Amino acid sequence: MQHVYFTQPEYLPLLQTEFSHATLFGENALFSDERIDSVFAVDTWHDCETLSFQSINEAAHLLKERARLWHYEGRASFRRGTLIGQSLRLLKTKPLIFGTLPPLTPFGIYTLLDDHRLFLCHTPQKPIPLGQIEFIENKVIPPNRAYLKLWEMFSLLRQFPKPGETCLDVGASPGGWSWVLAECGAQVISIDKAPLAPHIASHPQIRFQQGSAFALDPRDFDPIDWFCSDIICYPKRLLSLIERWLESGKVRHMICTIKLQGDTDWDTLRTLQAIPGAKVQHLWHNKHELCFYHSRD
Ligand SMILES: C[S@@+](CC[C@H](N)C(=O)[O-])C[C@H]1O[C@@H](n2cnc3c(N)ncnc32)[C@H](O)[C@@H]1O
Repeated sequence: MQHVYFTQPEYLPLLQTEFSHATLFGENALFSDERIDSVFAVDTWHDCETLSFQSINEAAHLLKERARLWHYEGRASFRRGTLIGQSLRLLKTKPLIFGTLPPLTPFGIYTLLDDHRLFLCHTPQKPIPLGQIEFIENKVIPPNRAYLKLWEMFSLLRQFPKPGETCLDVGASPGGWSWVLAECGAQVISIDKAPLAPHIASHPQIRFQQGSAFALDPRDFDPIDWFCSDIICYPKRLLSLIERWLESGKVRHMICTIKLQGDTDWDTLRTLQAIPGAKVQHLWHNKHELCFYHSRD
């Protein structure tokens, strides 16, 4: 079986480090017979099929037999692939409005290896082709674009914090993540050594405490529904913070950015990945960083 792992072109070298055998698949993907739980792939097509065809009609027929809805990922033979698509029901995607979820409709993805070979996946991992989730951005209130990665994580989880839930946002300044959490109606405690942007600090659902996240004692807190961290620190330091809060039993969900600096610290990434209930992944809106998620539910 063949598997394809997608990323953004600039992160392809990092993705390559996860494989012993993989070949390039365009400028943003790797093709491999290794089925792995990749941390650097933004989307994965597992168990792909290659099918030969002679005519456009035959190709469309083969696809219709396998799924009702398709996305064409134009690579080789662009015109022929588009013509095949004209006989199919194609997936329509649009940028998401804050608080709405990506469609649940199952779809397949196809591309052409050449004029007579379809390459397809029936079960792409992400609900949006290649994981390229787009949002209708609020360019006025959030003080930066860091809020998009938290929004993406909630979209993938298919749940946002609910009104009245409690959130602890560490490394919160200038306040994009805290704004997302508060907009959901949650009560937010924001911690940072640096102050929040004034218009975020004055939000009625946000309470700011200046200080270091590493000095916090979980015993001083009531149970927390969402623990969020976007602190810039070495992965090992983040691991110890995560372990301390998990051991406390006070946290239901955890979303933490793992900042990558210098050589990839694989030992720590594997330790984080191996925590029961945890997932480490590269989000479409992540930069040189990964997202750790853990849930007790
Ligand atoms: C990438 S920024 C966070 C951006 C934020 N999530 C947002 O949406 O606006 C990282 C933050 O981590 C903070 N930070 C670094 N070390 C910290 C520590 N020990 N305790 C708390 N915050 C820390 C920095 O001051 C910085 O504001």
